[in-house]
Amino acid sequence: MQLLLTLGGIVSIPTLSPHLSPTITRGEEISNKIIHSSYGLMEVFHLQGSPCFAGRTCCENSSYRQSSRYYLPKPFLQLADGNISKPVLRNLCPGYGLSSTCRRDRLGVKATKQEGWDFGRFVKTLYFFQGPPNPAKLLEFIIEKLSGPAPSKPPSKMDSAGIILVSGATGGVGRRVVDILRKKGLSVRVLVRNEEKARRMLGPDVDLIVGDITKESTLNPERFKGVKKVINAVSVIVGPKEGDTPDRAKYSQGIKFFEPEIKGDSPETVEYIGMRNLINAVKNGVGMRNGKVLFGLADGKFKDLPWGALDDVVMGGVSESSFFMNSNGGENGEPTGVFRGVVSTANNGGFTSIRTKNFPVAEDLSAYDGLELRLKGDGRRYKLIIRTSREWDTVGYTASFNTVNGQWQSVRLPFSSLRPIFRARTVTDSPPFDQSNVVSLQLMFSKFEYDGKLNPSFTEGPFQLPVSSIRAYIKDPITPRFVHVSSAGVTRPDRPGLDLSKQPPAVRLNKELGFILTFKLKGEDLIRESGMPYAIVRPCALTEEPAGADLIFDQGDNITGKISREEIARICIAALESSYACDKTFEVKSVVPFSEPFTVDPENLPPEKDYNEYFKNLKDGITGKELLERSPVAV
Ligand SMILES: NC(=O)c1ccc[n+]([C@@H]2O[C@H](COP(=O)([O-])OP(=O)(O)OC[C@H]3O[C@@H](n4cnc5c(N)ncnc54)[C@H](OP(=O)(O)O)[C@@H]3O)[C@@H](O)[C@H]2O)c1
Repeated sequence: MQLLLTLGGIVSIPTLSPHLSPTITRGEEISNKIIHSSYGLMEVFHLQGSPCFAGRTCCENSSYRQSSRYYLPKPFLQLADGNISKPVLRNLCPGYGLSSTCRRDRLGVKATKQEGWDFGRFVKTLYFFQGPPNPAKLLEFIIEKLSGPAPSKPPSKMDSAGIILVSGATGGVGRRVVDILRKKGLSVRVLVRNEEKARRMLGPDVDLIVGDITKESTLNPERFKGVKKVINAVSVIVGPKEGDTPDRAKYSQGIKFFEPEIKGDSPETVEYIGMRNLINAVKNGVGMRNGKVLFGLADGKFKDLPWGALDDVVMGGVSESSFFMNSNGGENGEPTGVFRGVVSTANNGGFTSIRTKNFPVAEDLSAYDGLELRLKGDGRRYKLIIRTSREWDTVGYTASFNTVNGQWQSVRLPFSSLRPIFRARTVTDSPPFDQSNVVSLQLMFSKFEYDGKLNPSFTEGPFQLPVSSIRAYIKDPITPRFVHVSSAGVTRPDRPGLDLSKQPPAVRLNKELGFILTFKLKGEDLIRESGMPYAIVRPCALTEEPAGADLIFDQGDNITGKISREEIARICIAALESSYACDKTFEVKSVVPFSEPFTVDPENLPPEKDYNEYFKNLKDGITGKELLERSPVAV
């Protein structure tokens, strides 16, 4: 292995390419000895301003200089080794005042198309990305290299389907949801207050988070990693004043009236503050319907990234690019970043790019399916490279894309389409792309595609690519990621002209029950405003009866009746998969009246319903609040 030590950045490079060896007059100096690499470091110190390193005369033919000439550029390459050629080597020392003929002679290189190389720009590039030299890091690196390779960490395994979190899993609806999800073989985690109760009810092996949604400090972010979908059946606890059986039989039967009271935490704490805490705990993993902006305008603020040019100057080329902000260059006059430059194949170069410095905190994009770039095309084909390692010289997960000349367009690059590329070669044994750990981005215009292929739309000369945003997106059709079990009646307590005698107890006793429905509605509002793709299911009175009766779905919060908890559990799970249910709020009851018990023949169970038949008639934006908003009443 060859080693390169640059400005504070320490990079290893693979064994010298056989393509190179014959072209280097002093090829024998390119040995595997680390001492040669440290010369590379000295060289860079020199280039930053001190005339010589450690009192040495900066002699053109000193051997250490020539060895470093070879080492320096290589780690910056995105190109295949075969593309590093004679002129590259020749042009690594123009800043020292040698004529190109002299340099060519010295290195024994015969080049075809040659231009002066800007060594200063090369150093600036190093400095931008790698920062100032760091002697401690250098020592650490040398020790590490001499003591053998560091044990490689296994790549973190990605479960693209994600985990479904069931909160309120020890409740009447929640435990049924868990049961059905498991029977479907889906990955389930539960959020419960009482571990012992949960293990007794759901089995000793249940994957659980022990937490109380009213206490944010109990919702350990680590335990929410990997959660991509949520079914929330948490509720403030209601029970009969006279008391209940240990398994809450009186509460659960749902039909016979009892005088209710709140047990434990208040509705405000559970249904509103608790909901806010729960949303905060899950929203990163669940994702936003409109995606996550990495670069561009988001909520009225411009989110920038630390871009810097990274051109073929790092391998001796003369292409040059820059990135700047145009404060009103977007299609609607919004700020826009512009990647522009002049690309040349002189000195066997042929690429320009802009790369971000490593993000201080890696972006977790596990909720999303890809990156979307909003840009104004120029008919050229570009590459987006995403890195998941903080190392400089590492695999870049890469996708090429075409643009249409003169048109603002959105280019979607699914994560599933990314190729692991290292120096323009596909790496067949690289770890899968870890979208929970995105560390840097790079946009490139290159002559080279991958694996020896060329970019079909490559032309030399000036180019310009305005990019107004880069955001992670959820692919269409978007389905609910947060399904919430609320309650019919939440908008009714303050509804003008309502005949309360015909309403269920919770509506009549809203005030006595600590404004239970009012805070359930506020909790719903938090979900609707959160940006997560959601579905809000509002059951009428819940029973322990089996699922299977015909159903009535409605919107606007008007119906009364009963429905089985088992049926609600099935509806919640079906909603997770239905784009019809996305961002909908609806009530549901069975067609069977209160007065009639509903039973099924265990030998002849009713067929599973296709809930899409119900979901597909649901409309956007109907909550029942429409009536309230005409005559608001303060809580
Ligand atoms: N009963 C009805 O007739 C009716 C009618 C319409 C709508 N609904 C609504 O339907 C939903 C589901 O009802 P259900 O009968 O399944 O409710 P449930 O049996 O009372 O279950 C409530 C669940 O929430 C959990 N919980 C309560 N506070 C919590 C907290 N601070 N942190 C974490 N978990 C907490 C409980 O945990 P523990 O096991 O630890 O107590 C329990 O698992 C509720 O929102 C309910 O209001 C009910």
